[in-house]
Amino acid sequence: MKIGFVQFCPIFGKKEENLERVEKLIRKEEADLLVLPELFNTGYVFANKEELRSLAEKLPEGETSRFLLELSRQKKTSLVFGIAEKAKNKLYNSAVLLTPEGVKGVYRKLHLFDQEKFLFDPGENEPEVFDGGRVKIGMMICFDWRFPEVSRVLALKGAEIICHPSNLVLSYAQEAMRTRSLENRVFTITCNRIGEEDRAKRKLSFTGKSQIIEPEGKILFRASQDKEEVGVVEIDPFSARDKKLTENNYIFDDRRPEFYKRLLTK
Ligand code: ACM
Repeated sequence: MKIGFVQFCPIFGKKEENLERVEKLIRKEEADLLVLPELFNTGYVFANKEELRSLAEKLPEGETSRFLLELSRQKKTSLVFGIAEKAKNKLYNSAVLLTPEGVKGVYRKLHLFDQEKFLFDPGENEPEVFDGGRVKIGMMICFDWRFPEVSRVLALKGAEIICHPSNLVLSYAQEAMRTRSLENRVFTITCNRIGEEDRAKRKLSFTGKSQIIEPEGKILFRASQDKEEVGVVEIDPFSARDKKLTENNYIFDDRRPEFYKRLLTK
């Protein structure tokens, strides 16, 4: 199976241009699964809730999902992408799994970063694992990396590949994601954006270095910090099902949840 990411620099508010850019970048690629960045179609620094609402979309009928569904069908590629989701009166920072058959799953970011708290509603559901055809796929978004509970829950629910659309600004997240792979024995695909946004009195630099990590924490592919890049590698997703460490150790069976009760309270 071929999996990968599309690292690029979204232009704030220019949805059409961002969609065209993604289409151009993946035109020649062959992959079964590609991950795009968090909020890939809008950019990140929203001035206020009104601006966010004007750029957010409903799922699955919004223009971005329809455009990507067509692309997914043409390319026979499943896509995971980050989008500002409008649902009733709420606005979520969401990740979507789209296969040629349509939207297979949505994850609404649980851990909002910094100013996101004043713009988005936090997700209200436990992270779920979705059927990605031959593999089980989980999703988390950017700052969720800082909370190992998210990837743990996904792995315990059977995720073989965790897709991680991102707009990372803290430099050590990519290294931490190697540990998320290692401690759960899963593949992780972090798709980060590049470039800067300087608007609404905020200036952010995004750290690139999108990456694909295998279940032992090894880096299969890591992109540059500042260039548009599509990275694709061939993997055997079923190697993530094997949780054996030694003849006598299986990482999930060896857990002692009866001694972790403190994790269930704040
Ligand atoms: C982030 O969660 N976008 C840093």
